[in-house]
Amino acid sequence: MRKQKNVRDSYVRMTELVLPNDTNTLHNLMGGRMMHWMDIVSAIAAQKHSNRIVVTASVDNVSFRESIKLGNVITLEAQVTRAFSTSMEVHITVWAEDIPSGTKVKSNEAYFTFVALDDAGKPLPVPEAMPETEEEKEKYAGALRRRQLRLILAGRMKPNDATELKSLFDIKD
Ligand SMILES: CC(C)(COP(=O)(O)OP(=O)(O)OC[C@H]1O[C@@H](n2cnc3c(N)ncnc32)[C@H](O)[C@@H]1OP(=O)(O)O)[C@@H](O)C(=O)NCCC(=O)NCCS
Repeated sequence: MRKQKNVRDSYVRMTELVLPNDTNTLHNLMGGRMMHWMDIVSAIAAQKHSNRIVVTASVDNVSFRESIKLGNVITLEAQVTRAFSTSMEVHITVWAEDIPSGTKVKSNEAYFTFVALDDAGKPLPVPEAMPETEEEKEKYAGALRRRQLRLILAGRMKPNDATELKSLFDIKD
C-alpha cells in the first residue's frame, strides 16, 4: 500500500532580510531573488514530504503586488498541497515585514511543482499527501484542477482530457 503522510509534516518557514545586494536601483527587492527564495523553501517542503531529492518541474503564475523595500524581513511559508504519482504541488506564501513601522503584508502566493528523483535521476513515486484542516482540504481539491491547467499549458495534456477543468466551466463532450 502507498505510504501516507500528513501535508502538515511538509511545512517549512524561512526568514530572509532584504540586503543591498538583493535590490534593484530603486532599492526594492528584485523579483528574481524572491523567486530564488520561493524555489528553495518549496523544494525543502517537497523534500520533507518525499524524503528524496526533488527538481522543480513548473512554476505557476507569480505576480508581484507590492514592492518590497530594502531592510524588510521576508517570511516564506511552504507546504505540500497534494502529491500525485511522482510529482507534488507546493503552496508558498510570502510576507514582507517592516519591523520599525510594525507593518506586515502578504506580498505573494504561488504554486510550484516538484518531482522526486531516484539515484539514477528517474521520477520516483512519492507518498500520498493527506490534508487535515478545512484549508488543507480546499487546496488539496483545487490541486487537480491546477495540475490539469499547467499540464495543458506545458503541452502535456489535451484540453479534452482535462475533466476537472471541463466540469468547472460546465463543458459537455
Ligand atoms: C521534471 C522532469 C523530472 C519530468 O521528467 P519526465 O521524463 O517528463 O517524466 P514524466 O513524464 O514521468 O513526468 C514525471 C512527473 O512530472 C510531471 N511534470 C512534468 N512536466 C511538468 C510540468 N511542466 N508541470 C507540472 N508537472 C510536470 C508529470 O506530470 C509527472 O507527474 P506525476 O508522476 O505525478 O503524474 C524532467 O522534465 C526534468 O528533469 N526537468 C528538469 C528539472 C530541473 O532541472 N529543474 C530545475 C530547473 S532550473
